[in-house]
Amino acid sequence: MAKTSPWVALRVGWALALGALTSACSPAVPATPSYATNVRPIFESHCTRCHGDGPDGGMLNRARQPTGPDAGPLTSDPVAPLICYLNQYDDTNCAPVGADCHRGAQYCGTTLGSMLSMRLHGSILPMPPPPAPRLDDWELLVVDNWIASGAGP
Ligand code: HEC
Repeated sequence: MAKTSPWVALRVGWALALGALTSACSPAVPATPSYATNVRPIFESHCTRCHGDGPDGGMLNRARQPTGPDAGPLTSDPVAPLICYLNQYDDTNCAPVGADCHRGAQYCGTTLGSMLSMRLHGSILPMPPPPAPRLDDWELLVVDNWIASGAGP
């Protein structure tokens, strides 16, 4: 019978060590993730540099676009009420749609849940846009579970 080569043993050892490391680094995906604890950090690392309403908000923050094609009050743009500011939970000031309408992540995750999923998973108009890396499998599962469980705070 052939002896196990030391190289094979080494590789098996590496695979086991890597497996242990990987499982240690990926906490279980919560079944009912919360926006504040689980989802917001993901949006902050991938999305809010464009979809943010604060001083560090990005290109989709109309308040930061005094001139150019994105300028003006939100209500002047028929698409604006759909824009989600992913660094906040509530869709404050949006009922009725006012001059300061900020659709929050809650709105994006519930009413527009299928669009959020489509942008995160699909290849048509993917988010974040290329060349930014897409969410990894763990992050996708967290957001999927958040939407499926009602996009709670
Ligand atoms: C580099 C800037 C940028 C980043 C980063 C980015 N987006 Fe977007 N996003 C845009 C732009 C510009 C649009 C409007 C054009 C369009 O619909 O494709 C948009 C549109 C969207 C829309 C449809 C309109 C809306 O706001 O509801 C969704 C949903 C969306 N993005 C989700 C995300 C999510 C989730 C992330 C992070 C995982 C993300 N985006 C990251 C620039 C960005």
